[in-house]
Amino acid sequence: MTQTLTLRRPDDWHLHLRDGDMLRAVLPHTAAHFARAIIMPNLVPPVVTGADARAYRDRIMAALPKGADFTPLMTLYLTENTDPADVAAAHAEGVIHAVKLYPAGATTNSASGVSNFDKVAPVLEKMAEIGLPLCTHGEVTDAAVDIFDREAVFIDRVLDPIRRAHPKLKVIMEHITTSDAADYVRSADKNLAATITTHHLVINRNHILAGGIKPHYYCLPVAKREVHRLALRTAATSGDARFFLGTDSAPHTDANKLLPCGCAGCFTAPNTLSILAEVFEQEGALDRLEAFTSLNGPAFYGLPVNHTTVTLIRKTPDYPDHIDTPDGPVTVFDPAMPLHWTP
Ligand code: DOR
Ligand code: ZN
Repeated sequence: MTQTLTLRRPDDWHLHLRDGDMLRAVLPHTAAHFARAIIMPNLVPPVVTGADARAYRDRIMAALPKGADFTPLMTLYLTENTDPADVAAAHAEGVIHAVKLYPAGATTNSASGVSNFDKVAPVLEKMAEIGLPLCTHGEVTDAAVDIFDREAVFIDRVLDPIRRAHPKLKVIMEHITTSDAADYVRSADKNLAATITTHHLVINRNHILAGGIKPHYYCLPVAKREVHRLALRTAATSGDARFFLGTDSAPHTDANKLLPCGCAGCFTAPNTLSILAEVFEQEGALDRLEAFTSLNGPAFYGLPVNHTTVTLIRKTPDYPDHIDTPDGPVTVFDPAMPLHWTP
């Protein structure tokens, strides 16, 4: 039985770090294992200009523990007022690596997102021209659409029209949760990829709702039926270069999770690598874990792979069930299964 597992140092292609005290509390958990991460811009107020992204990047660098080797890859939050020239300048300076599309109202801090997709066409055209990828939160916000169908409907109503209008635009469907999304990604010949979270490989909607409501398993897009979780496992462990890790680790204090209207998000940064190794071993695909965590993402983003490595050993991991922050405790995602790999 394999006792150690050495991977090129992983990257996280979708991460929420927040700001201030929360940033300082959660950043060390990602920096301990990951070399780079695509940083989500849904702060309050959001990161909308190149200057905002530069300032946020500086705050992240200042919050890094001494000696940490971690590079934040910044993104801009796309609004109907985003200036294509500002986007191009921030990209040319190397400040940003993607632009994030939130349909207005789809999730946490998405109120400044896009309602009229025609209005952002000039930005998307500029991004296609300069090779800057678009990250998408792939859910429609139409109240008439069932929450479990919102991803599939987004593909038909929003994503496919955008991709037809801008065929050279590189698009990442983030945190996919359905077989529909995995199939759509496979159907594209190029310029389309998807990230998959750690938690969506582990939980289905029963984890949230059966036997009592479990707010710590509530995230967006919400976990779907078991058949979809299995489809995500197939995609993630296939070695197909179009699928890679974006944890969507999204810290909220317990006080904000356990409300009558609690926040969406699972905080997986402390135990993500242990969980992924477990999932890939269950699927008989440990030899493909490195492609998912460390190779496919850089290839799609056009960045070099990392040269350092991380070694996991076969040992029960020791991680806290919550971390303390000045804002209050943040619960660490419980995979509800024994884990056997320690980074
Ligand atoms: O579960 C989620 N949490 N999904 C998102 O899209 C946003 C994120 C957050 O910022 O908390
Ligand atoms: Zn997210």
